[in-house]
Amino acid sequence: MLAGLALALTVAVQGPPPDSGAALFASWCKSCHGADGRGTPAASTRLEVPPADLHECKGSTAETEDRWVRIVTQGGAAFGLSLDMPAFGEAGTPAQIRAVVRYARSLCGEQGWPPGELNFPRAFLAEKAYPEDEVVITDQARGQEYIYEHRLGKRFQFEASARTALDGQAQAFDGVTGALKYNVWNSLERRALVSLGLEATPPLGRQDVWEVEPFLAFGAHPRRALVVQGEVVSTWEESDGFSGMSYRLGVGHELGRFVPMLEAGWTVPTTGERALSFYPQVWIRLSRLGHVAGSCGAELPAVGPEPRHPRLIAFVLWDFGDASLFRGW
Ligand code: HEC
Repeated sequence: MLAGLALALTVAVQGPPPDSGAALFASWCKSCHGADGRGTPAASTRLEVPPADLHECKGSTAETEDRWVRIVTQGGAAFGLSLDMPAFGEAGTPAQIRAVVRYARSLCGEQGWPPGELNFPRAFLAEKAYPEDEVVITDQARGQEYIYEHRLGKRFQFEASARTALDGQAQAFDGVTGALKYNVWNSLERRALVSLGLEATPPLGRQDVWEVEPFLAFGAHPRRALVVQGEVVSTWEESDGFSGMSYRLGVGHELGRFVPMLEAGWTVPTTGERALSFYPQVWIRLSRLGHVAGSCGAELPAVGPEPRHPRLIAFVLWDFGDASLFRGW
């Protein structure tokens, strides 16, 4: 018992073991980021860019542990961030860096935030299940869509989008859509998440009736390099009621900064012909930080009403929750 007491006393006096994340954080990171991760006032006045707030849950959970490990190993400059964020790759072993990063990420201290590991690259067709702070501009043949997504709390996301069609008709304004999405389930162990949402399109622009679309979106990363994303949408139109279902499924494979994907979209209307299209596409990380990305590909109609012409599709996106547009390059 005495030995136990002595051990407890030693631990109490010496603090946590020197290789624990907490001890490493105190000796490596605290001077700038502060003991609680919120940043020290002294560091903020000394440094050109204030040290990132590692305590803020939204910021820390939206990123992957691996990305923080890379930033801490290689330093901020390697990701287009400030030179003031030093590189610890020489000073520490990979195990120590992983430990200090895990500790830094535990500073958020709240459960229930969907982990950034489940924030999969955006596909053309299937809605992302992960709630985002993002601006996206899409072009599909002659139609454009401007999307603004905004996270609300831990799991909600609000979305507003406007469409234009530059196809020579008098009315170029195509319509607007509002949506709300909620991440109902996520699991880092199972590497999967599921969200439910509702889209509403009022009779504006070329849209002549209200349209409401409840949807279920999911994403999974069953093996390290394979990403599966899908969506089931049901469409309800004013006066006609239920007008059909859409099923969307895609797989992607991460290859460094490129993610080639293939999606299929199956539309089953209550009246009219069913349609099946394939969407080969490549997602590309544009900024070093990864907060600006793009994608290009095509829609290849396989089954459905004639004429079935292939159409080019492209988008660019900026994850404004991650960094301002001109940083991180
Ligand atoms: C000399 C001051 C300093 C020290 C020491 C320091 N940092 Fe930083 N760190 C910064 C600054 C400044 C930034 C902001 C860089 C920017 O946004 O350009 C930053 C950014 C970061 C980021 C990026 C956050 C994001 O949102 O992308 C992480 C992660 C990070 N630091 C973790 C750590 C960890 C862990 C340690 C200790 C191992 C540490 N830092 C030590 C100054 C420091």
